[in-house]
Amino acid sequence: MDADAGRRVPIEPQKVDAPLTRSSIFLILSVADGDAATEAVRDGLGSVSDLTKNVAFRDLGASLAITVGIGSRVWERIMGAPGPRELHPFRVVAGAVHTAVATPGDLLFHIRSDRYDLCFEFERQLLDTLGDSVTVADETVGFRYFDTRDLLGFVDGTANPVGPAVPASTLVGDEDPAFAGGSYVVAQKYLHDTAAWASLTTEQQEAIIGRRKADNTELDDAVSGQKSHKTLSTIEDDEGEHDILRDNMPFGTPGSGAFGTYFIGYSRHLWVTERMLERMFIGDPPGLHDRLLDFSTPVVGCTFFAPTAGMLDALGG
Ligand code: HEM
Repeated sequence: MDADAGRRVPIEPQKVDAPLTRSSIFLILSVADGDAATEAVRDGLGSVSDLTKNVAFRDLGASLAITVGIGSRVWERIMGAPGPRELHPFRVVAGAVHTAVATPGDLLFHIRSDRYDLCFEFERQLLDTLGDSVTVADETVGFRYFDTRDLLGFVDGTANPVGPAVPASTLVGDEDPAFAGGSYVVAQKYLHDTAAWASLTTEQQEAIIGRRKADNTELDDAVSGQKSHKTLSTIEDDEGEHDILRDNMPFGTPGSGAFGTYFIGYSRHLWVTERMLERMFIGDPPGLHDRLLDFSTPVVGCTFFAPTAGMLDALGG
Protein backbone atom coordinates (compact mmCIF):
# COMPACT_ATOMS: atom_id res chain seq x y z
CA MET A 1 0.00 0.00 0.00
CA ASP A 2 1.16 3.53 -0.80
CA ALA A 3 2.68 4.95 2.40
CA ASP A 4 1.09 8.31 1.63
CA ALA A 5 -2.42 6.97 1.12
CA GLY A 6 -4.92 8.85 3.20
CA ARG A 7 -2.30 11.26 4.57
CA ARG A 8 -3.73 14.76 4.84
CA VAL A 9 -1.76 17.86 3.88
CA PRO A 10 -0.96 19.47 7.24
CA ILE A 11 -2.27 22.98 7.78
CA GLU A 12 0.97 24.76 8.39
CA PRO A 13 0.63 28.54 8.47
CA GLN A 14 3.40 30.72 7.09
CA LYS A 15 5.47 32.49 9.75
CA VAL A 16 2.93 35.25 10.21
CA ASP A 17 3.86 35.42 13.90
CA ALA A 18 7.65 35.61 13.35
CA PRO A 19 9.34 37.54 16.17
CA LEU A 20 10.10 41.23 15.69
CA THR A 21 13.39 41.55 13.85
CA ARG A 22 15.93 44.33 13.39
CA SER A 23 15.48 44.55 9.62
CA SER A 24 12.83 43.96 7.01
CA ILE A 25 12.06 44.49 3.36
CA PHE A 26 8.50 45.03 2.21
CA LEU A 27 8.44 44.07 -1.46
CA ILE A 28 5.30 44.47 -3.57
CA LEU A 29 5.35 43.08 -7.12
CA SER A 30 2.97 43.27 -10.08
CA VAL A 31 2.62 40.14 -12.21
CA ALA A 32 3.00 40.50 -16.00
CA ASP A 33 0.23 39.32 -18.36
CA GLY A 34 0.36 35.96 -20.11
CA ASP A 35 0.70 32.25 -19.40
CA ALA A 36 4.50 32.31 -19.28
CA ALA A 37 4.42 34.84 -16.43
CA THR A 38 1.78 32.80 -14.58
CA GLU A 39 3.94 29.67 -14.81
CA ALA A 40 7.09 31.50 -13.75
CA VAL A 41 5.31 32.99 -10.74
CA ARG A 42 3.84 29.61 -9.75
CA ASP A 43 7.31 28.06 -9.90
CA GLY A 44 8.82 31.01 -8.04
CA LEU A 45 6.26 30.86 -5.23
CA GLY A 46 6.67 27.10 -5.03
CA SER A 47 10.39 27.54 -4.48
CA VAL A 48 10.17 30.18 -1.73
CA SER A 49 10.65 27.63 1.07
CA ASP A 50 13.82 26.24 -0.59
CA LEU A 51 15.10 29.74 -1.26
CA THR A 52 14.46 30.66 2.37
CA LYS A 53 16.41 27.61 3.56
CA ASN A 54 19.33 28.48 1.26
CA VAL A 55 19.67 31.96 2.70
CA ALA A 56 18.62 31.29 6.32
CA PHE A 57 21.25 28.57 6.68
CA ARG A 58 24.04 31.13 6.25
CA ASP A 59 23.20 32.35 9.79
CA LEU A 60 20.57 30.33 11.60
CA GLY A 61 20.60 32.77 14.53
CA ALA A 62 19.44 35.67 12.35
CA SER A 63 15.75 34.60 12.24
CA LEU A 64 15.09 34.94 8.52
CA ALA A 65 11.34 34.65 7.96
CA ILE A 66 9.39 35.21 4.75
CA THR A 67 5.66 35.74 4.43
CA VAL A 68 4.14 35.69 0.95
CA GLY A 69 0.80 37.35 0.20
CA ILE A 70 -1.18 37.04 -3.03
CA GLY A 71 -3.64 39.72 -4.21
CA SER A 72 -7.15 39.20 -5.57
CA ARG A 73 -6.32 40.29 -9.16
CA VAL A 74 -4.04 37.29 -9.73
CA TRP A 75 -5.25 34.80 -7.12
CA GLU A 76 -7.25 32.54 -9.44
CA ARG A 77 -4.65 32.72 -12.22
CA ILE A 78 -1.90 31.55 -9.90
CA MET A 79 -3.72 29.23 -7.53
CA GLY A 80 -6.08 27.75 -10.13
CA ALA A 81 -9.22 28.12 -7.98
CA PRO A 82 -11.29 30.93 -6.43
CA GLY A 83 -9.75 32.70 -3.45
CA PRO A 84 -10.75 33.10 0.18
CA ARG A 85 -14.13 34.60 0.97
CA GLU A 86 -13.13 38.08 2.03
CA LEU A 87 -10.28 38.66 -0.44
CA HIS A 88 -10.77 41.73 -2.65
CA PRO A 89 -8.66 44.69 -3.77
CA PHE A 90 -7.70 47.27 -1.15
CA ARG A 91 -10.77 49.41 -0.48
CA VAL A 92 -10.12 53.12 -0.74
CA VAL A 93 -11.35 54.93 2.38
CA ALA A 94 -12.08 58.57 1.59
CA GLY A 95 -12.61 60.73 4.64
CA ALA A 96 -13.49 64.43 4.57
CA VAL A 97 -9.78 65.35 4.87
CA HIS A 98 -7.60 62.26 4.33
CA THR A 99 -7.82 59.29 1.95
CA ALA A 100 -6.43 55.77 2.31
CA VAL A 101 -5.27 55.25 -1.28
CA ALA A 102 -5.22 51.95 -3.18
CA THR A 103 -2.10 51.26 -5.27
CA PRO A 104 -1.12 48.48 -7.72
CA GLY A 105 0.52 45.25 -6.57
CA ASP A 106 -0.22 41.52 -6.82
CA LEU A 107 2.37 39.83 -4.59
CA LEU A 108 3.76 40.80 -1.20
CA PHE A 109 7.01 39.50 0.24
CA HIS A 110 7.45 40.45 3.89
CA ILE A 111 11.12 39.63 4.41
CA ARG A 112 12.32 39.74 8.03
CA SER A 113 15.65 39.03 9.69
CA ASP A 114 17.95 40.39 12.35
CA ARG A 115 20.52 40.85 9.58
CA TYR A 116 19.80 43.15 6.67
CA ASP A 117 22.24 41.27 4.43
CA LEU A 118 20.05 38.15 4.72
CA CYS A 119 16.95 40.15 3.73
CA PHE A 120 18.88 41.61 0.81
CA GLU A 121 20.19 38.21 -0.31
CA PHE A 122 16.76 36.60 -0.19
CA GLU A 123 15.27 39.45 -2.25
CA ARG A 124 18.12 39.26 -4.76
CA GLN A 125 17.70 35.51 -5.31
CA LEU A 126 13.91 35.82 -5.42
CA LEU A 127 13.93 38.52 -8.11
CA ASP A 128 16.48 36.49 -10.09
CA THR A 129 14.11 33.54 -9.97
CA LEU A 130 11.03 35.55 -10.95
CA GLY A 131 12.81 37.38 -13.80
CA ASP A 132 10.59 39.47 -16.05
CA SER A 133 7.38 37.75 -14.94
CA VAL A 134 7.09 40.58 -12.39
CA THR A 135 7.80 44.28 -11.97
CA VAL A 136 8.50 46.02 -8.67
CA ALA A 137 5.55 48.17 -7.51
CA ASP A 138 7.14 49.16 -4.19
CA GLU A 139 10.26 48.21 -2.27
CA THR A 140 10.73 49.58 1.24
CA VAL A 141 13.58 48.82 3.61
CA GLY A 142 12.52 48.99 7.25
CA PHE A 143 14.67 49.02 10.36
CA ARG A 144 14.01 48.59 14.05
CA TYR A 145 14.45 51.94 15.80
CA PHE A 146 15.30 52.52 19.48
CA ASP A 147 12.96 50.68 21.94
CA THR A 148 10.82 49.54 18.98
CA ARG A 149 9.74 53.18 18.50
CA ASP A 150 8.32 54.61 15.28
CA LEU A 151 9.83 57.77 13.81
CA LEU A 152 7.21 59.83 15.66
CA GLY A 153 8.98 58.70 18.83
CA PHE A 154 6.33 56.32 20.25
CA VAL A 155 6.77 52.65 21.15
CA ASP A 156 4.84 50.83 18.41
CA GLY A 157 3.37 47.33 18.70
CA THR A 158 2.61 47.11 22.44
CA ALA A 159 -1.06 46.13 22.17
CA ASN A 160 -0.39 43.28 19.76
CA PRO A 161 -1.98 39.94 20.74
CA VAL A 162 0.32 37.42 22.46
CA GLY A 163 0.28 33.64 23.07
CA PRO A 164 -2.86 31.75 21.97
CA ALA A 165 -4.50 35.07 21.00
CA VAL A 166 -2.07 35.30 18.04
CA PRO A 167 -3.46 32.40 15.95
CA ALA A 168 -6.99 33.23 17.10
CA SER A 169 -6.75 36.76 15.69
CA THR A 170 -4.53 36.14 12.65
CA LEU A 171 -5.44 32.75 11.14
CA VAL A 172 -8.61 31.88 9.23
CA GLY A 173 -10.50 29.04 10.92
CA ASP A 174 -13.60 26.95 10.25
CA GLU A 175 -15.48 29.92 8.76
CA ASP A 176 -13.61 29.31 5.47
CA PRO A 177 -12.24 25.73 5.76
CA ALA A 178 -10.42 25.61 2.40
CA PHE A 179 -8.29 28.55 3.56
CA ALA A 180 -7.88 27.65 7.23
CA GLY A 181 -4.42 28.59 8.49
CA GLY A 182 -4.10 31.50 6.04
CA SER A 183 -4.14 35.18 6.94
CA TYR A 184 -5.36 38.44 5.40
CA VAL A 185 -2.61 41.05 5.06
CA VAL A 186 -3.04 44.80 4.64
CA ALA A 187 0.07 46.83 3.77
CA GLN A 188 0.27 50.64 3.83
CA LYS A 189 3.25 52.90 3.54
CA TYR A 190 2.96 56.25 5.35
CA LEU A 191 5.19 59.32 4.98
CA HIS A 192 5.45 61.57 8.03
CA ASP A 193 5.62 65.34 8.26
CA THR A 194 8.18 65.18 11.05
CA ALA A 195 8.66 68.96 11.24
CA ALA A 196 4.94 69.56 11.87
CA TRP A 197 4.88 66.69 14.40
CA ALA A 198 7.88 68.15 16.23
CA SER A 199 6.07 71.49 16.55
CA LEU A 200 3.47 69.84 18.85
CA THR A 201 4.02 69.56 22.58
CA THR A 202 4.66 66.08 23.98
CA GLU A 203 1.21 66.24 25.66
CA GLN A 204 -0.46 66.98 22.30
CA GLN A 205 1.39 64.06 20.67
CA GLU A 206 0.39 61.75 23.53
CA ALA A 207 -3.27 62.72 23.18
CA ILE A 208 -3.13 61.85 19.47
CA ILE A 209 -1.58 58.42 20.03
CA GLY A 210 -3.30 57.57 23.34
CA ARG A 211 -0.13 56.59 25.19
CA ARG A 212 2.60 58.36 27.14
CA LYS A 213 5.74 58.90 25.07
CA ALA A 214 8.43 58.21 27.70
CA ASP A 215 7.08 55.17 29.55
CA ASN A 216 4.44 53.94 27.05
CA THR A 217 1.58 53.82 29.61
CA GLU A 218 -1.90 53.89 28.16
CA LEU A 219 -4.08 57.00 28.52
CA ASP A 220 -7.80 56.70 29.29
CA ASP A 221 -10.13 56.62 26.28
CA ALA A 222 -11.86 59.95 25.58
CA VAL A 223 -15.51 59.75 26.66
CA SER A 224 -16.64 62.14 23.93
CA GLY A 225 -15.18 64.28 21.14
CA GLN A 226 -11.79 63.62 19.52
CA LYS A 227 -10.55 60.05 20.05
CA SER A 228 -6.93 58.92 20.06
CA HIS A 229 -5.35 56.57 17.49
CA LYS A 230 -5.37 53.77 20.06
CA THR A 231 -9.13 54.18 20.64
CA LEU A 232 -10.07 54.54 16.97
CA SER A 233 -8.16 51.37 16.10
CA THR A 234 -9.87 49.32 18.81
CA ILE A 235 -12.71 47.25 17.33
CA GLU A 236 -15.30 45.86 19.74
CA ASP A 237 -18.66 44.19 19.24
CA ASP A 238 -20.86 41.66 21.09
CA GLU A 239 -18.14 39.02 20.68
CA GLY A 240 -15.54 41.23 22.39
CA GLU A 241 -12.41 42.91 20.99
CA HIS A 242 -11.10 41.96 17.54
CA ASP A 243 -7.31 42.15 17.32
CA ILE A 244 -4.88 42.15 14.42
CA LEU A 245 -1.12 41.49 14.49
CA ARG A 246 1.02 44.47 13.41
CA ASP A 247 4.70 44.46 12.52
CA ASN A 248 5.13 48.16 11.69
CA MET A 249 8.62 49.28 10.75
CA PRO A 250 10.20 52.72 10.43
CA PHE A 251 11.94 53.56 7.17
CA GLY A 252 13.65 56.67 5.92
CA THR A 253 16.48 58.47 4.20
CA PRO A 254 17.36 61.64 6.14
CA GLY A 255 19.37 62.95 3.17
CA SER A 256 16.23 63.21 1.07
CA GLY A 257 13.95 64.18 3.96
CA ALA A 258 11.84 60.99 3.76
CA PHE A 259 10.61 59.57 7.07
CA GLY A 260 7.86 57.03 7.41
CA THR A 261 6.13 54.07 8.97
CA TYR A 262 5.33 50.94 7.00
CA PHE A 263 2.12 49.51 8.44
CA ILE A 264 1.48 45.80 7.99
CA GLY A 265 -1.47 44.08 9.64
CA TYR A 266 -2.25 40.35 9.66
CA SER A 267 -5.81 39.33 10.49
CA ARG A 268 -8.19 36.39 10.53
CA HIS A 269 -11.00 38.62 9.22
CA LEU A 270 -10.24 41.29 6.65
CA TRP A 271 -13.21 43.35 7.82
CA VAL A 272 -11.47 44.02 11.16
CA THR A 273 -8.53 45.89 9.58
CA GLU A 274 -10.92 47.62 7.16
CA ARG A 275 -13.09 48.79 10.07
CA MET A 276 -9.96 50.23 11.74
CA LEU A 277 -9.16 52.19 8.57
CA GLU A 278 -12.73 53.52 8.36
CA ARG A 279 -12.59 54.69 11.95
CA MET A 280 -9.20 56.33 11.37
CA PHE A 281 -9.96 58.06 8.04
CA ILE A 282 -13.66 58.87 8.40
CA GLY A 283 -13.62 59.27 12.17
CA ASP A 284 -15.87 58.32 15.04
CA PRO A 285 -18.06 60.30 15.02
CA PRO A 286 -17.57 61.01 11.28
CA GLY A 287 -15.54 64.20 10.83
CA LEU A 288 -13.29 63.59 13.82
CA HIS A 289 -10.61 61.59 11.98
CA ASP A 290 -7.46 60.15 13.55
CA ARG A 291 -5.17 63.16 14.07
CA LEU A 292 -2.18 60.88 13.36
CA LEU A 293 -3.21 61.31 9.71
CA ASP A 294 -2.57 65.07 9.84
CA PHE A 295 1.12 64.07 10.11
CA SER A 296 1.10 60.77 8.15
CA THR A 297 0.15 60.39 4.48
CA PRO A 298 -0.43 56.94 2.97
CA VAL A 299 1.26 56.46 -0.41
CA VAL A 300 0.78 52.68 -0.76
CA GLY A 301 -2.32 50.59 0.00
CA CYS A 302 -2.66 46.91 -0.91
CA THR A 303 -4.51 43.84 0.36
CA PHE A 304 -3.28 40.23 0.12
CA PHE A 305 -3.94 36.78 1.47
CA ALA A 306 -1.07 34.72 2.86
CA PRO A 307 -2.01 31.07 2.17
CA THR A 308 -0.60 28.19 4.20
CA ALA A 309 2.98 27.08 3.57
CA GLY A 310 1.59 23.82 2.13
CA MET A 311 -0.47 25.67 -0.51
CA LEU A 312 2.62 27.61 -1.60
CA ASP A 313 4.84 24.52 -1.74
CA ALA A 314 2.23 22.72 -3.87
CA LEU A 315 2.66 25.35 -6.60
CA GLY A 316 6.14 24.06 -7.27
CA GLY A 317 4.69 20.75 -8.42
C1 HEM B 1 1.38 56.09 10.42
C2 HEM B 1 1.05 54.88 10.69
C3 HEM B 1 0.87 54.38 12.09
C4 HEM B 1 1.61 54.64 13.20
C5 HEM B 1 2.86 55.50 13.34
C6 HEM B 1 0.99 53.90 14.30
C7 HEM B 1 1.44 53.92 15.61
C8 HEM B 1 0.80 53.30 16.67
C9 HEM B 1 1.21 53.40 18.06
C10 HEM B 1 2.41 54.19 18.55
C11 HEM B 1 0.35 52.68 18.80
C12 HEM B 1 0.33 52.51 20.34
C13 HEM B 1 1.15 51.36 20.81
C14 HEM B 1 0.71 50.02 20.32
O1 HEM B 1 -0.18 49.39 20.88
O2 HEM B 1 1.25 49.58 19.31
C15 HEM B 1 -0.60 52.07 17.88
C16 HEM B 1 -1.63 51.24 18.24
C17 HEM B 1 -2.43 50.59 17.35
N1 HEM B 1 -2.51 50.81 16.00
FE1 HEM B 1 -1.35 52.06 14.93
N2 HEM B 1 -0.09 53.22 13.81
C18 HEM B 1 -0.21 53.48 12.48
C19 HEM B 1 -1.17 53.01 11.61
C20 HEM B 1 -2.12 52.08 11.96
C21 HEM B 1 -3.08 51.52 11.06
C22 HEM B 1 -3.21 51.89 9.58
C23 HEM B 1 -3.82 50.62 11.78
C24 HEM B 1 -4.96 49.73 11.35
C25 HEM B 1 -5.51 49.70 10.16
C26 HEM B 1 -3.33 50.64 13.14
C27 HEM B 1 -3.79 49.84 14.16
C28 HEM B 1 -3.42 49.93 15.47
C29 HEM B 1 -3.95 49.09 16.54
C30 HEM B 1 -4.96 47.97 16.40
C31 HEM B 1 -3.36 49.52 17.73
C32 HEM B 1 -3.60 48.97 19.14
C33 HEM B 1 -4.83 49.59 19.75
C34 HEM B 1 -5.08 49.07 21.15
O3 HEM B 1 -5.76 48.03 21.26
O4 HEM B 1 -4.55 49.66 22.11
N3 HEM B 1 -2.30 51.53 13.22
N4 HEM B 1 -0.31 52.48 16.59
